[in-house]
Amino acid sequence: MCGIVGYTGPRRAVPILLGGLAKLEYRGYDSAGIAVLEDGVIKVHKQAGKLAGLAERLQGYNGQARTGIGHTRWATHGRPSDTNAHPHSDCSGRFAVVHNGIIENYLELREWLGSQGHQFTSETDTEVLPHLVEHFYQGDLVEAVRRVVERIRGSYAMVVLSADKPDKLVAVRQDSPLVVGLGQGENFLASDIPALLAHTRRTYILDDGEMAVLTPEEVKIFNRCGEPVEKRVFEVKWEAAQAEKNGFAHFMLKEIHEQPRALRDTLKGRLAGDDSAVVLKELEIDDGKLRSLRKIFITACGTAYHAGLVGKYVIEQLARVPVEVDIASEFRYRQPLIDEGTLVIVISQSGETADTLAALREARRLGAPVLAVTNVVDSSIAREADHVLYTWAGPEIAVASTKAYTTQLVAMYLIALHLATVRGTITLEERRTIIKELKQLDSRAELILSNGHLIRDLARMYGGAEDVFFIGRGLDHAVALEGSLKLKEISYIHAEAYAAGELKHGTLALIEKGVPVVALATQKNLFEKTLSNIKEVKARDATVIALAMEGQKELEKVADHVLYIPPTNPVLAPVLAVIPLQLLAYQMAVVRGCDVDQPRNLAKSVTVE
Ligand code: AGP
Repeated sequence: MCGIVGYTGPRRAVPILLGGLAKLEYRGYDSAGIAVLEDGVIKVHKQAGKLAGLAERLQGYNGQARTGIGHTRWATHGRPSDTNAHPHSDCSGRFAVVHNGIIENYLELREWLGSQGHQFTSETDTEVLPHLVEHFYQGDLVEAVRRVVERIRGSYAMVVLSADKPDKLVAVRQDSPLVVGLGQGENFLASDIPALLAHTRRTYILDDGEMAVLTPEEVKIFNRCGEPVEKRVFEVKWEAAQAEKNGFAHFMLKEIHEQPRALRDTLKGRLAGDDSAVVLKELEIDDGKLRSLRKIFITACGTAYHAGLVGKYVIEQLARVPVEVDIASEFRYRQPLIDEGTLVIVISQSGETADTLAALREARRLGAPVLAVTNVVDSSIAREADHVLYTWAGPEIAVASTKAYTTQLVAMYLIALHLATVRGTITLEERRTIIKELKQLDSRAELILSNGHLIRDLARMYGGAEDVFFIGRGLDHAVALEGSLKLKEISYIHAEAYAAGELKHGTLALIEKGVPVVALATQKNLFEKTLSNIKEVKARDATVIALAMEGQKELEKVADHVLYIPPTNPVLAPVLAVIPLQLLAYQMAVVRGCDVDQPRNLAKSVTVE
C-alpha cells in the first residue's frame, strides 16, 4: 500500500506534491519521488527512505513546473532503493508513472517488452507500465493508457504524466483507492483524502475500472468501456488529522475495518481459479522436500506467536506433520531438535522483531530451512529467510496488531493446504470446500464489522472490570489468547486466557460474582465440552460473554450475552472469531480513555531483545 498524488494547475507543482505525500506517508515510507514537466521535459526526483529526505533535497528547488505526480512507497516487488523508487519512466523518458497496487502478470509483460527492445532499470512490477504506454502511444495518451489496462492484471491506482501533453494527467483505478480533488482552475489526484484537504473538499471517489483525465480546466471520467461517466461530487466533512484515519477515531479501528480488504489481498493470486488448490509461486520449496518433512517449528512473538498456534492446529490437522510452536525468545536458547527433516516457519508483521530474527538465525545455524511469513517487504527477516510468504495487510500503524494477525492466519491456511496437497493428506473435495470458504472470509468479516453495537454496549457495561478471563478449547483457545492480549495491551485490564478444560485445575478459584468470562465456542466437535465449562464458571456467578457461530441458540440459555459470527468451516473460524474480540478490546480501551494507537510501554516493532 503506497501513497500517490498528482497536480495540474497554475501553481508550482513541487510544493503541492510534497505536501500531499506528507499526508500519505503512513501508507508507506520505504522511498519517495516526484516527476514534473519542466520546459517540455519530464524531471524525476526520487530516493530511498522517508519523504523528509527528498523534501530536504528539493529545498530551494525553484522549478516552475505546473504539472506533476508523486509517490511514497510501501515496497512489495523490489527492495526499498533509489532505483526501485517511483516514479518510473519509459526508455525515452517521455512518460512517467506512479502506481499503488500489484501488477500480477508483470513478469510475462517484462519479458514481452524486453523482446521488443525495452530496457528495464528496476526490480519493480510497476516499471512495465511506462514502457507499455510508450509501446501503445500514437499521439493519444488516453487511448494508450486504455490499451495498457487491457494488458495488465492485478490491482492498480496509477497516474501517467506525458511530456507530449503538458498539463494533462491520466489516472486509472482498479482495486486500489484513488480520489480526484476538484479545484478552481486546478485539479488534484491522491490515494487518499488527507492529501487533498489543504486544497479542496470537493472530490470524486473513483470506482474500479474508472479512468480520470485531468487538465487545469476540467476533469473527465470514463468507465472501463470508455463511456463518459457523470460522477457525484463527494464533499469531505473531516478534519485533516481525522482523514488520515479515513474518518476512524483511531488507526486501530481503521485497521480492524481494513481486514476484509487485507484478507482479499493476501489471498489474491494464491488460489487456483477452480478452487482445486493453492498456488504459492513464491514458495520455492520442492515437493520432495515437503513430502519428506518430519517436523515443523513455528516461532514468533506476541500476536504473531498466537497466529502460529492456529498454524499448528491447521497444519497438523490437514497435512499430518507434527508442529511445535515456540515463543522466539525461548526458541533461540533451548537448542531445539532440528535436523534435515525439519522446516522452521517464523512469523512477524514488522519483519524486524529482534527475538524472531535471532530465532531465524539460530534455526539456520542448526541447518533448518526457514520460511518467513511477514508483512514488510525486504524487512530483515524477509531478507534472511530462505523463503518468504508475504501477507498483504498494508502498513499497520497502530501498535496493537489486528489486520496483520488475520492475514497471518490466512498464510497459515495457505501453507497447510499446500503441504496437505503435496503430501496427499486431504482429498480434492476437502480442498475445494475449504478454499470456497476461504474466499468468503472477507464478506463474512464485513458482516461482523457492520454490526458492532452489542460490543459497544458490552464495553460500556464491563469497561470498569479489573480482571477478565477468556476461555476456549482447541482453535478457540488459540484465539482466546489473542483476545486477551488485545485487551491487555490497549486497555491495561488484567486479562488471562485459558484452555476451557483447564480451569477446574486451579484458576476456577479466581472466578467470583461478576467476573467477566469471554467464552469462545466456535468448534462444533468441542461445543458440548465448552458448554459444560461455561456452566462451571456460571455456577460461580461469573458474567459470561459467549462467542459462537450463528444458530448455536442453546448458548443463550446459559450465557449472559452471546456474540455471533457467520457460520464458516470451524478450521477457518479464528479469522472471524477474533474480530469481535478486537472490537471489544478497542471499545473497552476507548471507554477507559486509553491512548489506543500508542499504548504505554509498547512499540510497534520491538527491535531490541
Ligand atoms: C501485538 O499487538 C503487539 N504489537 C506485539 O505483541 C507484536 O505482535 C509482537 O511484538 C510481534 O511483532 P511482529 O509481528 O512485528 O514481529
